[in-house]
Amino acid sequence: MFSNAQGFGISGGEFNNIQGNQYNISYQDPKILHEIIMRKLTYSQQAFYDAGVGIRLARKPCSSGTREQILSDIEKWATSKNPFNALGYWMCGMAGTGKSTIAMSLCMRLKKKGLLAGTFFCSHQIPECRDYQMIVPTLVYQLAKFSGIFAASLMNIMQEDPDHLGMPEEQIKKLLVEPWNAIQ
Ligand SMILES: Nc1ncnc2c1ncn2[C@@H]1O[C@H](COP(=O)(O)OP(=O)(O)OP(=O)(O)O)[C@@H](O)[C@H]1O
Ligand SMILES: [Mg+2]
Repeated sequence: MFSNAQGFGISGGEFNNIQGNQYNISYQDPKILHEIIMRKLTYSQQAFYDAGVGIRLARKPCSSGTREQILSDIEKWATSKNPFNALGYWMCGMAGTGKSTIAMSLCMRLKKKGLLAGTFFCSHQIPECRDYQMIVPTLVYQLAKFSGIFAASLMNIMQEDPDHLGMPEEQIKKLLVEPWNAIQ
């Protein structure tokens, strides 16, 4: 409009400069990103390490001074930058020997250091915490809150197809592998 006009003046009025495709909304604001992902992802809040803090059934950490050796071993593993480190840390033991309590202490330590991206505590007593389809989306939800870059990539994938309650191997492909690959 007026592309060849010269030497004239306009006073007053309101000018809106609209160019190109105006339907591209920017989701860079992390709050908007998280809002969108929160509405689309089915996840279990009960499985977060700190669910129900202060109530009777809340998970508890180790009493101070106990389990120091294993806690420091696991923390060393979790914070190691060595790419040849094992991808997983397997902790096993008889029922009631303190595995979840160790895990809880570790989560608290990593959270303090800003290194806790996500948690899923299984539980026989809480239905959503024994639902295998909840594990991946719950971790992915927390990861999206932890990393804005991941959240933006995940949102693009979920906007195309929001279904995500299939088999775990499909969930891993769609909610973890695809968004990370799209970033690189
Ligand atoms: N280091 C510790 N300090 C204080 N309490 C502990 C400690 N280790 C275990 N406990 C207590 O012992 C009980 C059993 O521990 P926990 O639930 O961690 O065992 P678990 O190995 O995860 O059991 P399960 O195999 O049944 O899941 C809990 O009440 C927990 O609070
Ligand atoms: Mg346990």
